Amino acid sequence: MDGNLRGLNIFLIGMMGSGKSSVGQVLAGRLGYRFFDADIVLERVAQTSINDFFAREGESAFRDLESRVLGELAAQTRSVVATGGGAVLRRQNWSYLRHGLVVWLSAPVAVLAERLRGDETRPLLKTEDLEGKLKTLLGEREALYQEADLMIETTAALSTEEVAAQILAALPRVLKS
Ligand code: S3P
Repeated sequence: MDGNLRGLNIFLIGMMGSGKSSVGQVLAGRLGYRFFDADIVLERVAQTSINDFFAREGESAFRDLESRVLGELAAQTRSVVATGGGAVLRRQNWSYLRHGLVVWLSAPVAVLAERLRGDETRPLLKTEDLEGKLKTLLGEREALYQEADLMIETTAALSTEEVAAQILAALPRVLKS
């Protein structure tokens, strides 16, 4: 049931912990689309974990590879793509994201921090002050996330299914505009 999407990809953007991967999987199922997690594709290409890649090659090399992966995913159709939280940083990536519909999952920093506490897979969050770091990153990125075609405000109370349902419900309006 892809409605009026006509095979158009959906890219989920937003901060780490905003639910892009879990919501993306449900959304893809509901649409009869494939699901790609850009971080997992990147780890397959790099043949190592994001943590390890960051430590060995640095953030700039990570961003280069992230762009390459996004470029390849943008060439697909009928796909939901969960992007990494920093995918919005490079202008070049927007030319890939604009191949599809861009949906921003926003969430309060306190909710992100609650979900990410104890996480050891994200190199940018190796810090004592998790909330402070998330606030700083959000401050740097918010204006970019706002360039999405659709913004969905999530809360701790909303289930993955409910967030996916909100996206589905908003699609006809966004596709018309
Ligand atoms: C990053 C987010 C991560 C991953 C990497 C960098 C970021 O993806 O790409 O650790 O810069 O926000 P998720 O948003 O899927 O956690």
